[in-house]
Amino acid sequence: MQQQLELIRQQAMSALDEATTPAALEELRVKLLGKKGELTAVLKQMGQLSPEERPVIGQIANSVRSAIEEKLEQRKAAINAAVLEEKLSAEKIDVTIPGKAVTMGHQHPMNQVLQEIKDIFIGMGYQIVDGPEVELADYNFTRLNIEEGHPSRDRSDTFYFTDDDSVLLRTQTSPMQIRAMENTKPPICILAPGRVFRKDEADATHSPMFHQIEGLVVDENITMGDLKGALVTVMRRIYGQDAQMRFRPHHFPFTEPSCEMDMQCHKCHGTGEVDGQVCSTCHGEGWIELLGAGMVHPKVLESCGIDPEKYSGFAFGMGLERMAMGRMRINDLRLIFDNDVRFLNQF
Ligand code: PHE
Repeated sequence: MQQQLELIRQQAMSALDEATTPAALEELRVKLLGKKGELTAVLKQMGQLSPEERPVIGQIANSVRSAIEEKLEQRKAAINAAVLEEKLSAEKIDVTIPGKAVTMGHQHPMNQVLQEIKDIFIGMGYQIVDGPEVELADYNFTRLNIEEGHPSRDRSDTFYFTDDDSVLLRTQTSPMQIRAMENTKPPICILAPGRVFRKDEADATHSPMFHQIEGLVVDENITMGDLKGALVTVMRRIYGQDAQMRFRPHHFPFTEPSCEMDMQCHKCHGTGEVDGQVCSTCHGEGWIELLGAGMVHPKVLESCGIDPEKYSGFAFGMGLERMAMGRMRINDLRLIFDNDVRFLNQF
């Protein structure tokens, strides 16, 4: 048996020396040390030995096993090193190949216009504020004097979160008026840009998500003249000194009196027609509605603890996408959200 073990040792050593791949090594490991391997086969016969022989042979068997294991490890390291060496010399890196060009992005055209508008208002003393997109119906409607049952509260127009219709995605930035008046005493002069959500089908001038910019000024002796003056100044800064605007009377529950402001259509220049066809940008109107505005309703002031006898204010809410369309001469609102780089690269 001793001779058998020595033979296994010798053969194993030379076989391991000859193995040149990890796979060949693994095959040898199984053949020599595995459950059905040669060494195990010899050890199985130990039972036939006399009690004196058993420890002697056992010791030899153990030394053969550890010799094989040691050799296996050695060969494994040598083979891995050789494989790596071969890989390194095969894979030459050509450092002279030109790299991939890194293309710089830029601000989205809508954000460029937002930045411009913010800068103008900041220059006029407005403070930029931010508020929640998930809003309480109380702020979005009730405290803005929009009564229960008003059509804008309808489930077909508004995204509600709760069955009792108390939490929603804000449909306008006007709840920021309430939040501002709750938090500060007049004089108040804020601008609150942000996303708003309505269940609108997307077309050239509508999208279920869009951006508004809310403005609110509250102080003593604020008049409709201040409102017009502020808006006209801003629009001329954005669209040029000869920009054509018009104010139309309108109704909002939270302002009194109320108005809307339109901008002459940049596509058809107010004619409503392009090449004999109805202008697709303004639907033949010649004007594009940009914002709603008005004098803050006394009830709204009162509900925020501001004395309407002493203070008055104006508010406006403009559609940022509409502003960007006019400023950047974009004819279809959907282009703003598609994020097609062929479109975005033009700005
Ligand atoms: N929140 C109104 C809208 O979404 C616009 C508006 C804002 C009107 C402020 C008056 C004052 O249509």
